[in-house]
Amino acid sequence: MNLVPVIAIDGPTASGKGTIAEIVAKTLGFHYLDSGALYRLVALAAQKSNIPADYEEKLGNIAATLDARFEAGEISLGTERVTDQIRAEAVGLAASRVAALPGVRAALLQRQRDYRMSPGLVADGRDMGSVVFPDAQLKVFLTATAEARAERRYKQLKQKGITANITVLLQDLQDRDARDESRSVAPLKQSPDARLLDTTAMSIADAVKQVLEWYRGLEIGDARP
Ligand code: DC
Repeated sequence: MNLVPVIAIDGPTASGKGTIAEIVAKTLGFHYLDSGALYRLVALAAQKSNIPADYEEKLGNIAATLDARFEAGEISLGTERVTDQIRAEAVGLAASRVAALPGVRAALLQRQRDYRMSPGLVADGRDMGSVVFPDAQLKVFLTATAEARAERRYKQLKQKGITANITVLLQDLQDRDARDESRSVAPLKQSPDARLLDTTAMSIADAVKQVLEWYRGLEIGDARP
């Protein structure tokens, strides 16, 4: 039995889980795993080698030998810094296709589990509570309406000076949700033992506060699901 605590935060794209998970990890002094970044890195590495997003065998090899580094907020692939590149919408869409391949998911499984180190881990993704860390001490399913998520993504892009069309963003987001929810392996869905947090009308600070309250409640023996 692994006693290092894990807080698993799963949810759809643009639900705010990355931001919230990172702040929770910082507050508790825990490690942080952005599992989506691993799928994005596989998609980017495939694009760079001109490998189509459905060539399972090759993509499984890429995932198994991924030379990825996460250091001080920067993400590198080999010697190249790709922090911003992997956030592109096109890479996100390709990641969603690559993530539907069982060979890729299997190749990334142990790598994700290796992040479980003392004093604890906050992991965000789609299957953190259901597959990667089924024994996580706290499982949260974070969600918001598709419209609220598209609006947030639109504002983020605008802040970065990138022009975007909200109707296109909403459609992309719904397509990605549909693919993440309907794939045969590790589909995105709320685990029965996960607590639901709907952030449609909630600030980031309030969402962080709720996750911390749940976690600290567990520490003092409040085991309500
Ligand atoms: O969270 P994100 O948008 O960075 O994730 C990119 C894609 O990777 C997303 O469409 C689904 C996939 N993904 C996954 O299948 N399982 C995870 N644990 C994390 C991400």
